[in-house]
Amino acid sequence: MSQQGPAFDVNAMTLTRWVLYQQRTAPSATGDLTQLLNSIQTAVKAIQSAVRKAGIAKLHGISGDTNVQGEQVKKLDVLSNDLFINMLKSSYTTCMLVSEENSSVIQVETERRGKYVVCFDPLDGSSNIDCLVSVGSIFAIYKKVSPSEPSESDALRPGSELVAAGYALYGSATMLVLALGRGKGVNGFMYDPSIGEFILTDPNMRVPEQGKIYSINEGYTAEWSPKLKKYIDDKKNPKVGKAYGARYVGSMVADVHRTIKYGGIFMYPATTSAPKGKLRLLYECNPMAFVVTEAGGLASNGNIPILDIQPSSIHERAPCYLGSKKDVEELLTYLK
Ligand code: AHG
Ligand code: MN
Ligand code: MN
Repeated sequence: MSQQGPAFDVNAMTLTRWVLYQQRTAPSATGDLTQLLNSIQTAVKAIQSAVRKAGIAKLHGISGDTNVQGEQVKKLDVLSNDLFINMLKSSYTTCMLVSEENSSVIQVETERRGKYVVCFDPLDGSSNIDCLVSVGSIFAIYKKVSPSEPSESDALRPGSELVAAGYALYGSATMLVLALGRGKGVNGFMYDPSIGEFILTDPNMRVPEQGKIYSINEGYTAEWSPKLKKYIDDKKNPKVGKAYGARYVGSMVADVHRTIKYGGIFMYPATTSAPKGKLRLLYECNPMAFVVTEAGGLASNGNIPILDIQPSSIHERAPCYLGSKKDVEELLTYLK
């Protein structure tokens, strides 16, 4: 009888190994970005464990102030934010952070400073936490260019200047999707909890050129522009062909990930009560636009590419239309 055990992959391409390879084959890389990405990876592993309620006892009593051990219990979005901040600061590679959860920029102590600026949404889709629907984390990385002390202006830069961006999706499985540099494509890594590693499962992800799904919160129809109403109406009642299907999770990470995998269009438009939409430019629209564009899709605010917007404040919002190239192009002909 054969003595062989189960067929384990002895040559798995882990995220750490993949990033290290990119660094070693880039002529001027110092290893700082590798270190930074490792710190994000650790934060994401810890968040995914908390999202999955892996330590049930520790999280029990999430609505109250203390758990069964009498320790302070943190809400998941606060815990995720603390994880991101602590991991990024202790990577010695960042000088300033922008988080959805913090009203001002977070300065890294002088002795722990490095050259990168990171903008992040530590837990996206918070309204879906309590009903166990998919949530995610989003991050955008800039290299500081000015020689002065880090200040807000170091984060107020168009998405086209991003060094890297990505997201983690805590869905039926956990996946980390990374666009590491312009023109370098997009790669997806699935988390294998049995070894605690992200494994490259979706190399060179590409958004289908056209899809069959539109994704928008239709509850706000009355607040849309007539042009957008007409577009959605035509998707439901096409003159030729089949109607598009509708999908809307309400967690941007999940809706965008589906759009990348299956194609179609995701929209968070301007409305009469929110003329710039809801989504935040620095840590929602920009990083997702960077990933989608790198994967061959398009991302626009209805007027110009998302990545060309010059931000003027760290929490500013932008209307967001992204997804399959042909679908976004078609929408833009309506919005003109
Ligand atoms: P967050 O949980 O980080 O505040 O973001 C939620 C966002 C985004 O994930 C989602 O696309 C959008 O809010 C949903 O908003 P509506 O409920 O207005 O559709
Ligand atoms: Mn969000
Ligand atoms: Mn959030």
